Amino acid sequence: MSLLASSLGKKYIMALSGLVLSLFVLGHMVGNLQVFGDPYLINAYGYKLQHLPYGLLWVVRLFLLLCVVAHIWAAITLKMENKKARPEDYQTKATVQASLASRTMIMSGLIILCFLIFHLLHYTVRSVPGHEYNHAIVASDGTEYPAEVPLVLNGKTKVDAYGKPLIVHNVHGMMIAGFSYPLLSLFYIIGTYLLCMHLSHGVSSMFQSLGLRNEGWRYRLDALAKVYGWITFIGYASIPLSIWFGLVQASS
Ligand code: HEM
Repeated sequence: MSLLASSLGKKYIMALSGLVLSLFVLGHMVGNLQVFGDPYLINAYGYKLQHLPYGLLWVVRLFLLLCVVAHIWAAITLKMENKKARPEDYQTKATVQASLASRTMIMSGLIILCFLIFHLLHYTVRSVPGHEYNHAIVASDGTEYPAEVPLVLNGKTKVDAYGKPLIVHNVHGMMIAGFSYPLLSLFYIIGTYLLCMHLSHGVSSMFQSLGLRNEGWRYRLDALAKVYGWITFIGYASIPLSIWFGLVQASS
């Protein structure tokens, strides 16, 4: 059996792909938190990402996709191998000790995958019916925001290499409009709560799989994983909640 297909190999694949995805989750959250600043910030950030040189955006996208596929494949095959190897009553005894987060990793992971597919259709492909965001962006109260806006900082419009005003995608307006719909906001809050649960067990077991968690460090790494999970939840959930309650306003 090759190393990659062995249980140890799969544990490494799961841990390393999980590490990449956890770091992405943190980076994406920090990027999104710019919605609390001037609209320039998140619109310029979105523009820079979309215009990364050498097709880097697609390299990163494909790499993340590879990590998602590898993570799910390793998780499901390892789970099936464990089930085969362990008698039923042993499993029952073991689950009494285990936390809810650890017992529901496959379930929370699959729901997060559904959340992610919806999220990509919503904000990246922009094809969710009623939320296409291709022309005007319509909030729940009927307010329309332009889908594209000039990039303005301190009253000055940024220009391109030819001196023309830089017209960028209105990410700020898209978030304001999107999270003005309470059901949609609730869906994001539930999705990111499941992500919090998943990370609060996954980050700690990642160290275990990589052979970096001994008994002495176990307690500290478990605590670190919980903090990581809760930071991501608070960071992400603060966005729909603040917009829903009118704490973040669109500029125009
Ligand atoms: C409140 C929560 C979130 C908000 C407000 C948010 C916002 C956004 C926005 C606005 C985009 C599109 C950017 C653009 O095209 O300019 C985006 C893309 C994306 N988001 Fe999120 N996001 C959230 C949560 C998440 C979570 C929890 C994950 C992962 C589990 C995630 C993964 C992604 C991915 C993979 C993309 C596509 C990036 C690309 O290739 O263009 N997002 N998000």
